[in-house]
Amino acid sequence: MRAHGILALMSLPGCCCWLSVMLLGTASAFLTMAANTAAAGAAGKSTVVVTGASRGFGRALALEAAREGHPVIGLARRSADLDSLGKELEAFPGSCVLECDLGIPDSMARATTQIMMRTRHVGTLVHAAGRLGPIGNLAKSTASSFKEGLDVNLVAVDYLTRRLLPLLGDHRATGTPPAAGAALREAASLLPPRLLSRVCVISSGAAHTPVASWSTYCVAKAGLLMWARCAAVDLAQYGISVIALSPGVLDTAMQAEIRAADPDDFPEHGLFTGYHAAGALADPAEVAARVLPLLLHHPASLSGAEYAADSDSLDVVLRLCSADADNAGAAANAAVV
Ligand SMILES: NC(=O)c1ccc[n+]([C@@H]2O[C@H](COP(=O)([O-])OP(=O)(O)OC[C@H]3O[C@@H](n4cnc5c(N)ncnc54)[C@H](OP(=O)(O)O)[C@@H]3O)[C@@H](O)[C@H]2O)c1
Repeated sequence: MRAHGILALMSLPGCCCWLSVMLLGTASAFLTMAANTAAAGAAGKSTVVVTGASRGFGRALALEAAREGHPVIGLARRSADLDSLGKELEAFPGSCVLECDLGIPDSMARATTQIMMRTRHVGTLVHAAGRLGPIGNLAKSTASSFKEGLDVNLVAVDYLTRRLLPLLGDHRATGTPPAAGAALREAASLLPPRLLSRVCVISSGAAHTPVASWSTYCVAKAGLLMWARCAAVDLAQYGISVIALSPGVLDTAMQAEIRAADPDDFPEHGLFTGYHAAGALADPAEVAARVLPLLLHHPASLSGAEYAADSDSLDVVLRLCSADADNAGAAANAAVV
């Protein structure tokens, strides 16, 4: 339909010949690259990059995606946990771990360079890494710990996504110089929206409700949610969606850290020890298996929103997120081309 729109535009009496040629040229280049990308996507499963992959929810997501047949690149700082994930991923061709400290730009730059040496396209980027502490009243904590918390939980998400843009979505459009890029984007806007990459940030109830002694974490998660909404708006034209997922209360090291906090420094301490005592913490592997179709296969229409893993309404959303629907979308794009 939109391709016909290009032709209709060029047949307008006032439409200059050179503009027609330029549009036709850029549109045909765009159509060719769309065909190539659709073909590449249909041929094999796309690469999944997961931060915070050494432990907890990120590790569970990385392993689940690898079991689904996706090449997985798991990032975290050097540790025995990261080594053991690397060993587990050896069973899955194309999967590996990379060292990356999200508090150090040089470390992130090195990791993204290594990712670029391993793949030309990232289908899904999951920012699962998170840092809660230090837990403590704002009046007693330091400005430097506030900045460190924002760096790891928020700034690194923006930094890594920007560095990986050449591998995300329609990377040839994102990598094109501004002038030509504008023409390409204009031509692209006449085509049906195609979703080539998905970015997911991990949200939290702390993004919505202030929790005493968690000021850094709450501020970072609230900022992350707005980052996801803004990125969804800005990156849609490149075939990139951005969603936020709130995983619920999980049985991970982060919850152990919460229970280990001094109750004098943390007024909500009893609430979290209560969750643990009541067996209310969810198994990260079970949650990862439930939400993975959302992360890997959601349609573009779901971009820009936050989803809760422990909500019944997620079942409705998940029905829109099957791999079949994804393939049907790719086939439809190929047909348009
Ligand atoms: N657990 C919950 O109840 C809960 C609830 C809501 C949201 N969340 C969110 O879910 C996500 C996963 O949490 P989790 O419970 O699985 O936490 P976790 O077990 O503590 O794991 C945190 C992960 O983040 C990584 N990380 C922390 N600082 C890093 C840094 N500077 N550089 C690189 N990686 C770093 C850790 O890797 P290293 O090996 O490098 O330390 C680890 O892989 C987080 O975003 C968290 O905020 C958790």
